[in-house]
Amino acid sequence: MDNQNLHRTIIEPFKIKMTEPLVMPTRAERETFLREAGYNLFLVPARKVTFDFLTDSGTTAMSAAQWSAMMVADESYAGSRSFEKFEKVVRDLTGYTHVIPTHQGRAAERLLFSLLVKKGSAIPSNNHFDTTRANIEQLGGEAVDLVISEGRDPANRHPFKGNIDLERLESFCAENHAKIPVGMLTVTNNTGGGQPVSMENIRGAAAIYRKYGIPFILDACRFAENSYFIKLRETGQQERAVRDIAQELFSLADGCMMSAKKDGLVNIGGFIALKDPRWVDHLRSILILTEGFPTYGGLAARDLEALAVGLEEVLDDKYLSYRLASVRYMAEGLNQRGIPTMQPPGGHAVYIDAKAFLPHIPPHQFPGQSLVAELYLSEGIRSCEIGSVMFGKFVGTEFQPAQMELVRLAFPRKVYTQSHFDYILEGMTEVARRKNSLKGMRLTYDPPFLRHFTARFEFIE
Ligand code: F0G
Repeated sequence: MDNQNLHRTIIEPFKIKMTEPLVMPTRAERETFLREAGYNLFLVPARKVTFDFLTDSGTTAMSAAQWSAMMVADESYAGSRSFEKFEKVVRDLTGYTHVIPTHQGRAAERLLFSLLVKKGSAIPSNNHFDTTRANIEQLGGEAVDLVISEGRDPANRHPFKGNIDLERLESFCAENHAKIPVGMLTVTNNTGGGQPVSMENIRGAAAIYRKYGIPFILDACRFAENSYFIKLRETGQQERAVRDIAQELFSLADGCMMSAKKDGLVNIGGFIALKDPRWVDHLRSILILTEGFPTYGGLAARDLEALAVGLEEVLDDKYLSYRLASVRYMAEGLNQRGIPTMQPPGGHAVYIDAKAFLPHIPPHQFPGQSLVAELYLSEGIRSCEIGSVMFGKFVGTEFQPAQMELVRLAFPRKVYTQSHFDYILEGMTEVARRKNSLKGMRLTYDPPFLRHFTARFEFIE
């Protein structure tokens, strides 16, 4: 745009054609809803939430071009025109010939791992996402996290905190290569805070995997955000088109799994794409058994149409620059109000460091959950605790807390505007002012598995 030096505000690079009313319950109503939900935001219906930052997955607002592509979809069971369009876009972007659609990311994981992972297998990555880990463990394998040590320190400002530790990867592969059916990297590294991986690091990991004959598969669900971080931060990458960077990133691996609900800019969808044909027949057979025919894989053709357009639109510099700037804007706004966040801000979410923000609440009284409750009570925000509620364990009667007490605000793509963020930040000034009055919480119901989805709490008076 002209006059770049004149403007500091990063505007939304789109006009809005369709809207949905913002739900705005009163504070008294929010108190009632939250009490009824046992202070667990997963149990609060979306129609009672003003700003929903539970996830950036499947929550994108689609473009006019995507909606219009859906109207011309070819819903043929076999060999649909929409599949051909989708397949061509994925091939052009990734350079991988074999494209297998799935209904979302975890379906791709289950499909690929059911072929490769056995009892005793080990699969290294920077950090595995929860469903990736669970799919590996369910087959008796081990999901091994080898992110660099900077990536585990919320305050460290390393520009590529998603990098895998190449030394540890080398020695892990040297020792265990016979039981590693596949090596991975997650871009960006969601579990580690949405932090990017550098091109140099991806190249380094690829060389190690190649040396030991291990196929290298990317978890590529936020590949575009990762590519834009490379453009911004890595030496020698500034003048390149993001598409170019993304194509190189994919070229370094043997294939990818993708939850398209993130950088595919769609509400549902995923795929596996591979260079080599050797697994493809088997994968397609299981796909027919469990997802659908290989030219739709659990999706409607209109979903494939929307995805074909989304995978192109996501590579727009103006969009990616706005996307990363809005996450940074929110993180800096919180920091200015004395609310510490993981540094530097990642691509899709802001992670508040609840342990540092609420030092008067000990980990076994769930400072993250107390903040999650407060954000809903004060601003109608739905966020997600990633701390001792999610990962804490009872050993006998003793509670072992998680390493970090984080609260994730994950931003849906193109849904909220800067004025929403400004409004929220105004409210955060007040939250920061009265932080010492926030109380710890205790569990009133602790389910046997996956506590965070269904647990219930009360405040400790
Ligand atoms: N891999 C990564 C890195 C993810 O972040 C996710 C989902 C998946 C795989 C699984 O994909 O949901 O389409 O089956 N992450 C969402 C989140 C749920 O909120 O971070 P899916």
